[in-house]
Amino acid sequence: MGSSNHNVTQAILSWYHQNGRSHLPWRKKISAYRVWIAEIMLQQTQVATVIPYFQRFMQTYPTLKKLANAPLPDILHLWSGLGYYTRARCLYQTAQIIANDYHCEFPNDRQALERLPGIGRSTAAAIAAIAFNKPETILDGNVKRILMRVHALEGNVYDRKVIEQLWSLAEQYTPKQNCDDYTQAIMDLGATLCTPKNPQCTQCPIPKYCRAFKSNSVDQYPAAKPRTVIPKRECIWLVIMNKKGQILLKQQKDTGIWAQLWCLPECTAKDNIKAWLKTHLNLTVGPVKHLAAFSHRFTHLQLNITPIIILTTQTRIVKQNDWKLIWYQSEQQKLAMPTPVKRLLTHTLQNTTSQS
Ligand code: ADE
Repeated sequence: MGSSNHNVTQAILSWYHQNGRSHLPWRKKISAYRVWIAEIMLQQTQVATVIPYFQRFMQTYPTLKKLANAPLPDILHLWSGLGYYTRARCLYQTAQIIANDYHCEFPNDRQALERLPGIGRSTAAAIAAIAFNKPETILDGNVKRILMRVHALEGNVYDRKVIEQLWSLAEQYTPKQNCDDYTQAIMDLGATLCTPKNPQCTQCPIPKYCRAFKSNSVDQYPAAKPRTVIPKRECIWLVIMNKKGQILLKQQKDTGIWAQLWCLPECTAKDNIKAWLKTHLNLTVGPVKHLAAFSHRFTHLQLNITPIIILTTQTRIVKQNDWKLIWYQSEQQKLAMPTPVKRLLTHTLQNTTSQS
């Protein structure tokens, strides 16, 4: 490590010892298991959202063994609302591997961690560094932004060449000692001071090493993401309610972004709703009411959803196909559902019960 890099690292470490977010629950009672769960939850979700999920998860599955013995639907249910459910499925697979192949003990080297489902290079490094104090380098969104500013790098953080350059720079700041603290320090610096908007440069520990700061151009780094137009898909969600106030749910198949989650039956605007219900569910229905459309954004797709409320006197469904169906009544059923489904159900159940 060059002496200026060493100074940067030391300045970040001392700043962290005074200002780090030591209250975060995964920073207490540190273990590879707890760090792993936190890192996976934090991959695509904000700290404030993750905290209660992390706490519930630890109460339910305090050890890797408990998690490895849990049924996947229970894990998915606990994950409901965090989104990106592939993470929960990978969590389940990794727990099985560690229980079966590693006697419930996490491997402590990055290469072995990286071979586990759902653990990429940066997450493996974060676990190795934070839980085992190994001198491994992370490169998440926060670190990328800091390095782009400190080095006033032109180019785009999504560009493969830029990413290679960032890895190499990130390695140069990684200390051989105290890598556990340094890893959390650099995350905190990005999350609390070197933020995407309104960075707090006056409180930054390394302004004299920051090229963007010295040229008064912090707001220009990293370069704005080129706007991508994501495709839109229109769909109709059928909120079929019986006389008991229960709503019909259908379990998704084993593939796709919401695999195995419980969703509302779905058709397209082209379908004649009553004919669709007769064909697929052999259901005869009463009045049909359109609710206001809303959208749900995935990374690569925007789903425009029109919910339709349908009342039926039938409570028995004679199935016309291999769909897995259930009548849903309350939270107590503990079904894993995507957030937009859960919101729509809560809204519908509240509105229908308050009218009756
Ligand atoms: N973001 C990703 N990992 C984190 C961690 N361990 N602490 C705080 N923010 C994070």
